[in-house]
Order: sequence, then structure tokens, then C-alpha cells
Amino acid sequence: MKIAVLGTGYVGLVTAAGLAEFGHSVVGADKMADKIERIRRGEIPIYEPGLGALLAANLRRGTLSFSADLAAAVQAADVLFVCVGTPQGDDGSADMAQIEEVSRLIAENLNGYKVVVEKSTVPVKTSVWIKRTISLYKKNEEEFDVASNPEFLREGSAVEDFLHPDRIIIGVESDRARDLMLRIYDRHKDRILVTNIDTAELIKHASNSFLALKISYINLMANLCERTEADVELVAKGMGLDPRIGARFLKAGIGFGGSCFPKDLKALIKIGEDLGVDMSLLKETDRINQARVRLFLDKLKSALWILGDKTIAVLGLAFKPETDDVREAPSIRIVQALLDEGARVRLYDPKAADNMRELFPEDGVRVVYGASPAEAAEGANALLVCTDWAEFLDLDLANVKERMANPIFIDGRNLYDPAAVRALGFEYFSIGRK
Ligand code: UGA
Repeated sequence: MKIAVLGTGYVGLVTAAGLAEFGHSVVGADKMADKIERIRRGEIPIYEPGLGALLAANLRRGTLSFSADLAAAVQAADVLFVCVGTPQGDDGSADMAQIEEVSRLIAENLNGYKVVVEKSTVPVKTSVWIKRTISLYKKNEEEFDVASNPEFLREGSAVEDFLHPDRIIIGVESDRARDLMLRIYDRHKDRILVTNIDTAELIKHASNSFLALKISYINLMANLCERTEADVELVAKGMGLDPRIGARFLKAGIGFGGSCFPKDLKALIKIGEDLGVDMSLLKETDRINQARVRLFLDKLKSALWILGDKTIAVLGLAFKPETDDVREAPSIRIVQALLDEGARVRLYDPKAADNMRELFPEDGVRVVYGASPAEAAEGANALLVCTDWAEFLDLDLANVKERMANPIFIDGRNLYDPAAVRALGFEYFSIGRK
């Protein structure tokens, strides 16, 4: 199968490498020529475990190539995976300009039957616009179909998720498109659910919003736990033992971030409202999440009173572990709030510090980046943990405490055992437990 993957962002790169690994002949195409050059040289623009090796192996085997010539990539392929960005627009809805641009490009280069596959997360009914756009701009009678095949990969385990998916959703409206799509995922045929296109599009938004809802739900329970003698970790464990609920995505903390949940939740709210559906449930999910940062900072204030002129160490900047991504990370709002209150920050992250530096440049006084957690803790009046990096569990906390001005420790991800941290002499606060 000849496949073109249009767009080489997170989803595009993983999709291109994964489909090549499945044995297809894949071209990853992007109009950013310098980016393509770098990828060809083996420089991967993102940190994602296993991606470099998968790309290199398939580039070597010749099953994968990269090109800045989008037109040629479209012309040569039978199936086109659209992986361009759908960023959040001003009103919360997804900005579809890049999808429209690619649809026009496909129309202009339609030289035979092709299936155009929506891989990026798009609002339900997007396929109608893609079809209309291609029909509007194509110059011949060549036929095409649109299909929806939403991506469920998680940053940090994207390669694993692509190669070993829980499910593959294929939304189609013709047998021809369905047969082609089934061939692409032949090796996972027991995992495939075929639906119509609207359903497939909605499954993606519905899944992400449900997981976001689950997180806000446990965070709401954490608030209740903080006013009682209950422990949210055990509440989550007890709930999760019921297989109807499931244990995953019940980790209380400072809220969900990243390029997907916050954006997809807002997009689904907007889609629903435009369709005349009351979306209060999801609005509340978003509101609870927004409030996490304020509640977290309240814990700091309850320990330090005034933040002005204090030095606060922040460990963990990425929106979750195993990624260098800081998009919509709670740490951004936390650091901004600390600076707004007149505090100095000392920041550390194993992978995401460079991306954070673009938002909060190091000035040596108010914003300092530590080369290690212990260095970040130097002279701090309090230490905050914002990302549950596994390596933080191996920290020499006694050494960290030695370096701090005050042993105040606020754990936004419930990484540590409260008794053990307190035994070292810290004043320790976490989420939803004493
Ligand atoms: C999410 C979905 O999990 C993927 O299935 C989906 O494909 C992807 O969005 C997407 O739409 O592309 P991702 O954003 O990479 O993946 O990260 P998650 O692992 O889902 O975590 C999202 C946020 O929720 C993180 O900030 C994490 O810290 C937070 N989280 C997660 C919690 O606060 N508690 C939990 O129990 C789980």
C-alpha cells in the first residue's frame, strides 16, 4: 500500500513510522522543508521514547521516506493520512485552516482514486467539509473517499500505542474505502471497529472528554477528602477495583494538561452548543480542572503566607512524564502565578526545561533553571512537584532538604509517601490526603 502522511508533527511522525513498520511504503510530507531535512538526517523534533529508533529502522529499510514536496507525495499515494494541526481557535473551537489547506492541495493533485483519512482530531462532520472542499477544487472526474481513523496515542508511549493499539476505529461510507483501510491495519484486524464517519469522529472527542471527566471527578473527590479524614488515593483504589469503573485515569493531582484534553474538551463543548445540546457536564469538567492550580497555590500560601520575595523550587515542568512537552502544562500557570506574586522560581525538568525556557527565559535572578533537582532546591523556601517523573522517586530528599531554606514540600502529584517525607523533617502537603 502506498501511503502519504501529510504533516509531520507528533501524530504525523508516529503514524508515518508506525505504518512503515506495518510494511507499507510511506512518505511523510510537510511543507516545512528545513524540518524535513532535519528528520532525514535523523534529528527528531520531539522527545518520544522509541520514535527515533523506529524512524531510523524504516528509513534504512527504505519503507519510509520524507519529502517537502506535498504535491508529489499526494500524487504517488493511494491513501492520504491527514495529520496537520487543529489548534484551538479563539472561541474554543478547533481551527480548521490547515485541514482546509491540505484538502485543496489534495484536490489539485488528485490523479486517481484515493482515500483521504482524517487522522488529526477533528470535530464531528469535518468529513463533509473535506469532501466539499476537494470536490470544489478538483480539476477532473477522479474519485475519492474520505475516512476517519482517529489516533489514540499518548505522548510518552506513542510508539507503543501505535504498534499495539487497544482499538482501531475506522469510519467509512463506501466499501472501497473500508476494504483499503482494513488492508492497512490487517495485522490488527481483531481490534478494528468499523462505523460511519460521524461516529468515528465523535468517538475520539468522546473518549478524550470522558477521560478528562474521570480526572476532574477524582480531583473533585480529592477536594472532599481534604475536608474529611478520607484519603483520595484509597478512594481511587477502592473505586478502581470495580471493573465497571477501572483504576486508570483516577490519579488526583494539579489537573490535566497537554495538547489534547484541554483543547478537545473545549472543542466538544463548542460542537455540542452549536448543535443545541446542553454541555454543562463537560463545562464543569473544564472548570474543575482550571481551579486545580489555584487550589494548589493555596496550599503553598497556607504554608508560607506571603509569596513575594520567596524562592520557590518547581520540580517537573512537562504536562506529564516521559515527554518534553509543556503545552497547557499546569506548571506554566503555576510559575506565572508565582512570578506575578513577586516570588523567584528555580525550575527543573529532566526533558522539558528547554521548552519552558522559551516561555520563561532564565534571567539568573527571578527565573533560574537547575541542572538537577537538588540544584533547583538550593535556598528555596518551598519545593513544588508538578510532574510525576519516576526519577523523582529516587531523589535524595535528605540532601534536598539540606539545601532548602525552609523544608516545605508541596507534592501536586502524590508521588511520595507522606510518612516517609515527614520523617525526614519536611512539612509535607499533597492532594486529597493528610
Ligand atoms: C491523551 C489521550 O490519553 C490519548 O488517548 C489521546 O490519543 C491523546 O490525548 C490525543 O488526543 O492525541 P496525552 O495528552 O498524551 O494523551 O496524555 P495523557 O496520558 O492522557 O495525560 C493527559 C493529562 O492528564 C496529563 O496532564 C496527566 O498528568 C493528566 N492525568 C492523567 C491526571 O491528572 N490523572 C490521571 O489519572 C491521568
